[in-house]
Amino acid sequence: MLYNHLSINEQGHLALAGVDTVEMAEKYGTPLYLLDEMQIRTKCWTYVQSMRKHFPVGSTALYAGKALCFKQMYPILKQLGMGADVVSTGEIHTALEAGFPASMLVFHGNAKTDDDLRYALDKRVGWIVVDNPEELERLNELAGEKRACQKIMLRLTPGIDPHTFEAVSTGKVDSKFGLVIETGQALEVTGRALEMKNVELMGFHCHVGSQIFDSKPFLDAAGVMLSFMAEAKQKYGYNAQVLNLGGGIGVRYVESDPEEIDIDKVLSELSNYITNQCWRMKIFSPAIFLEPGRSIVADAGVTMYTVQSVKQIPGYKDYVIVDGGMTDNPRYALYGAKYTAIVANKADRPADFPCTLAGRCCESGDVIGENIALTRPERGDKVAVLTTGAYNYSMASNYNRFGRPAVVMVCQGEDRLVVRRETLEDLTRCDV
Ligand code: LLP
Repeated sequence: MLYNHLSINEQGHLALAGVDTVEMAEKYGTPLYLLDEMQIRTKCWTYVQSMRKHFPVGSTALYAGKALCFKQMYPILKQLGMGADVVSTGEIHTALEAGFPASMLVFHGNAKTDDDLRYALDKRVGWIVVDNPEELERLNELAGEKRACQKIMLRLTPGIDPHTFEAVSTGKVDSKFGLVIETGQALEVTGRALEMKNVELMGFHCHVGSQIFDSKPFLDAAGVMLSFMAEAKQKYGYNAQVLNLGGGIGVRYVESDPEEIDIDKVLSELSNYITNQCWRMKIFSPAIFLEPGRSIVADAGVTMYTVQSVKQIPGYKDYVIVDGGMTDNPRYALYGAKYTAIVANKADRPADFPCTLAGRCCESGDVIGENIALTRPERGDKVAVLTTGAYNYSMASNYNRFGRPAVVMVCQGEDRLVVRRETLEDLTRCDV
């Protein structure tokens, strides 16, 4: 098993935190997202504790809601003392509806509209991460109209390539995100922000990419950002209070992925590096913000499907076709991402049937994985796809007018619905 919270019970069924996944699939129907709440809480707590241990006062772990966002995530974060990274008015709305404090929200986005900025100002979102010069000018004006002074950070591209999927690498010089350090743009815009009356520049942000297994890209990014801070200090006498290093720690999807990352070890290394660099560059040690998403929720999740057919094409390939697919998990179609799958009601039998796990959408690219080894299933069997807590529900779509699946949390032997399944009525709700 990829993770310790997964096991096989006496019935030979896959269990998540001791809860029978087959029973859950029968109770709530499929496709179904299952989440192990303790696993999420443990990951949150690891970040909170490690950050307290290694970084200066004021350092904060912000959960990146883009990985998995629904109302019941937010009380968990609030209880554990985390903030949240939000990227849309929809994510802000979800957090606030769940009673999460606006002051603990950090608002991102590379194309925030005037309406987005007004909404964030009205709701008194704690911090706005400004992506580009146009946004900075507009935010200063809008905050002025509201007689507010908004705390901001500037998003910079440190020019680091973390060698992950191309589509999720965001810190390179030619990225669509942020202000470029290399060309001098970032320094110039910093000067402009410091002159403004209605924004207060708290520091700088970068995010180099996602699904990273090695501390090096984080240290490299921190190094570039600290040199930039030293430059800003020299040029403007400005001491940044906060350095936000984004998210990006990777998780295991398949056995061949690197060993699970020791988050505390990476943060300890990062802290030592930052302390040394600050001392060397003669700048104040900033508070550190981190924005983990995937590493908090991915391994807590399992998606359950029901097999509809097994299509064997001798001499070509064998398909196992299930009642979900790219509508609930578009990551193979988008990134060629790999997954581990198990026939959950036959979890104790050998997985000796290599197949393509395909979905029900009307296109050939609707595949969850290729060369997946399963126990040979038959119609009605339940297939569990592991490590689906991040970027699955949050990236789900209504393509072909399929309703989005329900989300169920399991905790200490109990299960509870946290997002109900979309009905046919939901699908036509906005049609006029
Ligand atoms: N902060 C910022 C500014 C980000 O852009 C992201 C992710 C995060 C934090 C969280 O990164 P994480 O810890 O989850 O790696 N849909 C893709 C992932 C896109 C990530 C986008 N930004 C996927 O399914 O792999």
